[in-house]
Parts: sequence; structure tokens; C-alpha cells
Amino acid sequence: MLIASYGLWTIFALPGFRKVPTSLKVPYLPSSRVQTQNVMKLLQGRRGCLADLGSGDGRLVFAASSLGFRCTGFEINSILIGYARARARWMGISTPAARFVNEDFWKTDLSRYKNVTVFLAPGVMEVLGRKLEQELANDARVIACRFPFPQWHASQSEGQGLDQAWAYDMATVRKLPA
Ligand SMILES: C[S@@+](CC[C@H](N)C(=O)[O-])C[C@H]1O[C@@H](n2cnc3c(N)ncnc32)[C@H](O)[C@@H]1O
Repeated sequence: MLIASYGLWTIFALPGFRKVPTSLKVPYLPSSRVQTQNVMKLLQGRRGCLADLGSGDGRLVFAASSLGFRCTGFEINSILIGYARARARWMGISTPAARFVNEDFWKTDLSRYKNVTVFLAPGVMEVLGRKLEQELANDARVIACRFPFPQWHASQSEGQGLDQAWAYDMATVRKLPA
């Protein structure tokens, strides 16, 4: 049973993995329902383009698109991309509302996104923070699930324990006057 579960997990988790340097590898783990709700609460009052960095099966993208965001899910795992696209078609969600691209977000310029969601791993948060600080506009908001950015002060947070999510406003991160 354990071996079968591990086998199934590797089929879904491993495609695309080799393309990313070892120190930046992040495996697939879906957001829980409560974690997804916490992220949506932190997006309240926001609008525009949203990027989910490592979109997995698309659940954060689908939840955000139902709030009116134009979402792009970046995902290196081609199986998960295929699954998310099929689910979008099945749910009747149009491409501008939920778009899934088979791209490595480390190699993508994210400057056009005003909202960014991430559920990744503790080891990549500091380096990701440096990339986002270079690229995002002052009015952008970043939401991190489970693992906060170690070098940033959060503007807001929702939930507790494994489901906790933190919101970071780039103007605050950059310590700009209000
Ligand atoms: C912890 S899962 C989160 C999935 C989804 N966002 C959710 O909350 O359910 C992280 C995802 O990031 C993807 N990923 C890891 N590194 C990536 C990269 N450099 N570019 C695009 N996707 C990446 C993994 O394949 C995995 O699906």
C-alpha cells in the first residue's frame, strides 16, 4: 500500500523536477481547503492579474479566478499542467480567467503581476523574496502559504499552524512611506 502510494506520488511529482537546480527543487503538495480559504481572505479587495508560482493541480488558481482575478499558474510538471487544463475545460473556466503555463517561474519575469501566491518550501523562500523584490511593483501583494518569507515583515496573516498564510505588500516590504 505504502509502495503503491509512493509510486503514484512520484508519477505526479517528478516530471519537470530535473530541470530545476537541486537547491530550488520543490515537490508537489496540494493546498488544504482551509489554506486555500486563508489565501482567498488575504486577496479580498484586490484585483487584476495573479500568478500562482507552482500551480500544481490548479486549486489556488481556480479559487482566485472565481473571485474575478485573471490568473496564470506556472508549473514545471507537465502532468499537473495537463490535469489543471483539463479541469479548467471541464469546469467551463475561460483561458483569461485561468491560464496554465508549463514554465519555470525562476526564469520568468513576474513584473506584470499585482498578486502572487506561493506554496513552496522553506529553503527557497529567501531567494524567491530577492527575485520578487527586484521584479514586482510597489502595489503588488504576495501571499505565502505555510512558509513565510524570512526577510520580510507581513502586512497581514490568516489561519494557524500548517494552514497559515501571510500577505506581504511590496511597498511595506520596501519600507516606503504610506
Ligand atoms: C507545494 S506544491 C503547491 C501546488 C499548488 N500551488 C497548491 O497550493 O495546491 C508546489 C508546486 O510547485 C511546482 N514547482 C516547483 N518548482 C517550480 C518551478 N521552478 N516552476 C514552476 N513550478 C514549480 C511543483 O511541481 C509543485 O506542483
